[in-house]
Amino acid sequence: MKRELIRRVLASESERENVSVAGWVRTRRDAKGFSFLEVNDGSCLGSLQVVVDEGIPGSEDLKRMLTGSSVSLVGELVASPAKGQTWEMRATTITLVGEAPEDYPLQKKRHSAEFMREIAHLRPRANLYGAIFRVRSQLTQAVHRFFAERDFVNVHTPILTASDCEGAGEMFRVTTHDPMKGGGKPEDDFFEKAAYLTVSGQLEGETFACALSNIYTFGPTFRAENSNTSRHAAEFWMIEPEIAFCDLEGDMELAEDFVRAMVREVVEEMPEDFALFANFVDKGLRERLQQVLEQPFVRVSYTDAVEILEKSGATFQYPVAWGENLQSEHERYLTEKHFKAPVTVFNYPKTIKPFYMRQNDDDRTVAAMDLLVPGIGELIGGSQREERYDRLKAKMDEEGLSEGYDWYLELRKFGSVPHAGFGLGFERLIMFVTGVGNIRDVIPFPRTPGNCDF
Ligand code: 4AD
Ligand code: MG
Repeated sequence: MKRELIRRVLASESERENVSVAGWVRTRRDAKGFSFLEVNDGSCLGSLQVVVDEGIPGSEDLKRMLTGSSVSLVGELVASPAKGQTWEMRATTITLVGEAPEDYPLQKKRHSAEFMREIAHLRPRANLYGAIFRVRSQLTQAVHRFFAERDFVNVHTPILTASDCEGAGEMFRVTTHDPMKGGGKPEDDFFEKAAYLTVSGQLEGETFACALSNIYTFGPTFRAENSNTSRHAAEFWMIEPEIAFCDLEGDMELAEDFVRAMVREVVEEMPEDFALFANFVDKGLRERLQQVLEQPFVRVSYTDAVEILEKSGATFQYPVAWGENLQSEHERYLTEKHFKAPVTVFNYPKTIKPFYMRQNDDDRTVAAMDLLVPGIGELIGGSQREERYDRLKAKMDEEGLSEGYDWYLELRKFGSVPHAGFGLGFERLIMFVTGVGNIRDVIPFPRTPGNCDF
């Protein structure tokens, strides 16, 4: 008899015999002559309620079937007299597969998020985390579907690299030299030069867009930013489309369509898990996501955004001034207080953005955009790329980037085209659609400063 996932069993259309399931015991309640077991296999939020009569094969082990133990069952699926569930199972045989002792850490009560991070190997067995990681999986597949439907080619860009795309000096160095044994020179190292973990697949992605037209990458990226916030991780996944023959306008459109499609995926395709987030994690979630689906996103230039902030009368920890980066408090003011909606800010000062962004005619700004969302701040960063050889060369010389980037400059020498793209932080997207407030809780095994334990 083939085991079925509980998700499938609970979706049955009629009563059935000889149904086989397996999972982990959430609770057991004993009554006279029989016991109730709640069994969950992670395939869905709901557990299967099972009635186990004393005397059926395997029932002699009932007393040892504590919370956390694993069991397999065969039984009859029958209409449940209990409220809130359609089906229950009447077991005909039960097998205790693996015991869990009394001190199983995940007892049926509320545990703090901090405690759950300490048991990252067990937390996916809890309802909230099961739901988060099912959403993460569903969105992964939705990302590929979104781009496949639009004829984008998926490119696997390297994880080991010599280039610092963002120029922020936040790269993790990769070396075979043991610093404990005195380290060694980069030229004597494995790659015969200094190598790092990638911060972004963009530069390599651009080369493929300038050949295959529309491409995207979706992979792990790494940043040695020492910022201990709820929105930064040292290892996170980024989605980076790159489009040939495209300007900033087209880039912003794609970014907005993409966010909307991802929100729709969760709201419409995962109603059960979504209800858990909307009811228990963030009471404002349903309304916020509904707005994303129904209303156009706001667009505002950086210059206008600065003016709004200056005139707001709000007190900020960091001052607002043209030419300064927007801090997350400023971004949140714009999305949560002023526009009360997702906002795309575009045309940033050139002095605060990386070398590859296309200079605007005003000579002070570049064709950059950040998509900001309530509760998070920056979800997407993107730009039109500088496709003019002379401009790019001058900028790279100015920043001392002439060495090692010939290949990047050559794209502008041989059939250069206007092109644009963006990067979306996958974990921030998951936070946005679930209302979960800390990035550590949407990554299976989060890496943050001082934390690489599992
Ligand atoms: O704005 P960023 O740095 O842009 C780039 O890397 C460009 N090369 C992307 C491109 O144009 N192809 O990063 C893009 C996004 C941010 O908007 C944010 O969502 C996420 O990546 N991100 C992080 N997410 C989690 N932890 C961190 N430390 C992050 N740093 C950036
Ligand atoms: Mg950015």
